[in-house]
Amino acid sequence: MTRVPFTASCSTSIHKCCLVNTINIGTTSLAAFPNSLALPFVPHTKATSVRRISVVAMSDLSKSTVLVTGAGGRTGQIVYKKLKERSDQFNARGLVRTQESKEKINGDDSVYIGDIRNTETLASPIQGIDALIILTSGVPKMKPGFDPAKGGRPEFYFEDGANPEQVDWIGQKNQIDAAKAAGVKQIVVVGSMGGTNLDHPLNSLGNGNILVWKRKAEQYLADSGIPYTIIRAGGLQDKEGGIRELLVGKDDELLQTETRTIARADVAEVCLQALKFEEAKFKAFDLASKPEGTGEPTKDFKALFSQITTTF
Ligand SMILES: NC(=O)c1ccc[n+]([C@@H]2O[C@H](COP(=O)([O-])OP(=O)(O)OC[C@H]3O[C@@H](n4cnc5c(N)ncnc54)[C@H](OP(=O)(O)O)[C@@H]3O)[C@@H](O)[C@H]2O)c1
Repeated sequence: MTRVPFTASCSTSIHKCCLVNTINIGTTSLAAFPNSLALPFVPHTKATSVRRISVVAMSDLSKSTVLVTGAGGRTGQIVYKKLKERSDQFNARGLVRTQESKEKINGDDSVYIGDIRNTETLASPIQGIDALIILTSGVPKMKPGFDPAKGGRPEFYFEDGANPEQVDWIGQKNQIDAAKAAGVKQIVVVGSMGGTNLDHPLNSLGNGNILVWKRKAEQYLADSGIPYTIIRAGGLQDKEGGIRELLVGKDDELLQTETRTIARADVAEVCLQALKFEEAKFKAFDLASKPEGTGEPTKDFKALFSQITTTF
């Protein structure tokens, strides 16, 4: 809990009676006043006339409360860490599925345990947030018995109840619906390039049609009326971020080039930057990067988002 100072219009100095308005504020503090950063006023008892006191949580004025779902995942945990590190800008929240995942990311009270297929577990983490970053995804499992020495291709399957229709469509839709009901101001979702091609190999993985269901959820988000940013990433790599020139594209055009991969850390950074710039809102785009050492590492995200012309 952080003790937050305030400004009061009733006095140049802070009177004792005003101190009742000093509030203890935690990650959900501003959630209590979702439509205004000005807290309720109280009359100044010493004054002859009642004057309005605008009490403003000064240190939290510019902070937004952001929930990342899939916070135990490979990209989700980078997003959660970045949000935590930028505590001057963000009140971080995470949603993971298990206590083990929570421990893995050193989660404190800001990490909730829930399942996006179960709407009841979404209400608390979403209540009072300003923005939602969706990093949940159906995860295919490799069928046992594959021996690389024998050649061939491994086979994959989705666990019962956890196929892309249930996770990438219904689960994403649940999150969007809950966010809309809670008045969330922006949703960032990470999807995948390849969605323009029904015959993309990812669709046959475990017969899951994963790109089809992801795309359906993206369309649902775009139609929701909530400001959104849809990031369709290229092949994800566990590499250092911030050292490559990022490329945005549309309609899977980047897949026809040599530059169709991106570091998870860069995707995570783009998620956070998307919360800062109007130019990122109501946009959907493909994301990849040039190889390290070619081009200039991207620093100007406003310019990056300004290049994007596509809304879906
Ligand atoms: N792999 C690639 O090359 C690639 C390329 C382009 C785009 N993408 C997309 O980029 C995104 C991030 O990928 P990633 O590899 O970083 O993700 P990831 O490590 O596979 O993480 C997915 C997360 O979703 C969570 N999740 C799954 N079902 C859930 C449920 N029912 N309720 C709550 N959480 C659930 C998982 O939780 P648990 O930890 O509990 O399992 C996991 O933390 C995904 O949408 C992926 O499809 C991937």
